[in-house]
Amino acid sequence: MQGRGRGFRDQRMTFTLPRRGVLAGVAAAALLKPFGAGADSDAQTTPSLARIAARGGRYYGAAARFDQIEAERGLGPALARECAQLTPEIHMKWDAIEWHAGQHSFEQADGLVRFAREHGLKVRGHTLLWDQSTPAWAKSKILAGDWSPIRRHFETMLGRYGDVEEWDVVNEPIDTVGGKGGLRRNCFHRGLGAGYVARALREARSLAPTARLLVNDYGFDYDNPVEEARRRRFVKLLADLKAEGAPLDGVGVQAHLDLSKGPLKPEILEPFFAKIADLGLYAVISELDVKEHDLAAPLAERDRRVADQVQQYLDIALAQPNVRGVVTWGLSDRHSWLSEAGADPINRGLPYDAGLARKPMYWAMRDSFLRAHDG
Ligand code: G3I
Repeated sequence: MQGRGRGFRDQRMTFTLPRRGVLAGVAAAALLKPFGAGADSDAQTTPSLARIAARGGRYYGAAARFDQIEAERGLGPALARECAQLTPEIHMKWDAIEWHAGQHSFEQADGLVRFAREHGLKVRGHTLLWDQSTPAWAKSKILAGDWSPIRRHFETMLGRYGDVEEWDVVNEPIDTVGGKGGLRRNCFHRGLGAGYVARALREARSLAPTARLLVNDYGFDYDNPVEEARRRRFVKLLADLKAEGAPLDGVGVQAHLDLSKGPLKPEILEPFFAKIADLGLYAVISELDVKEHDLAAPLAERDRRVADQVQQYLDIALAQPNVRGVVTWGLSDRHSWLSEAGADPINRGLPYDAGLARKPMYWAMRDSFLRAHDG
């Protein structure tokens, strides 16, 4: 879908590579991939995740920040190598763009878009409406029932970033614990009512007629009552939106996995994806990462647990034809939102370690793509 248009030679290489099991991957990583920049010496000769994903018509991408790309020499090349797509982790959020009403800061978002363009990568728009990233001045207007800041914000973003093909229009609308009727009591819901999701989609469609419009949310992955309620409410929201003709094309399933939440179950996840497909919607695994449970365990064991979890998740998700892409929430552990500043050790829930060497999660992802696409 979002291939990077590289040459035949690389594609052929993809086809001839032997498969590698996760355990083999772990062993190989332990033997060949000590920490530290430059340790990943076969980076130039192994097909990228983007290329392997593209074999099944899917894309692989990562969340990224332009300031980090500029600050860290190896990060840009690694992103450019592995990804077909970048999601701005922060820069396109409303508070990053317009902290003060009418004063726009586009530098970081523009920088990331420029970097993506220079390397032939797509950009996912993240995110037009999210309570947590709505600036205070806009929140107070919205709470008073004023839609006009939203209209202006959409005009700004969809106008300036008109070549973005896929947008998370509404982020995290579900809250079955503290919400109302299962919808989060955010400033949009409180000021404008439950219809804000459909209205936001219509507004986005009027300004971006050809973009793919998504609702993005988390907490759908595990077998527990809270997540079961969240899955049910999410699917109902999607069904309601479709029934009223709202222009919804797909969903982002964030998949912030968590090793403390128990095993992943196909009998839970498969029907969830199937219900989304039945509504004519595609899905993107939009923010994949893994929160570790036991950072004191031996390193190889920690990496194995993370890799196993990711492999289990992707084996299920990639068996669903309507899952079109996988995005990890960052590429390297060094930049993960799960890695607290100054923490030692840090969480290891992304495909590259803090020294920008690929680790078992990387090989697990690669294996899952290969399994899904080669049958
Ligand atoms: O830039 C300021 C800096 O000037 C200041 O000194 C510092 C002090 O805290 O804050 C910095 O801003 C922070 C920003 O990240 C950059 O580091 C914000 O406080 C912090 O809230 C922001 O966190 C991001 C968060 O979204 C809110 O935008 C995380 O990096 C990002 O990973 C996270 O991503 C979200 C997705 O958008 C939606 N799904 C959940 C996911 C994880 O929370």
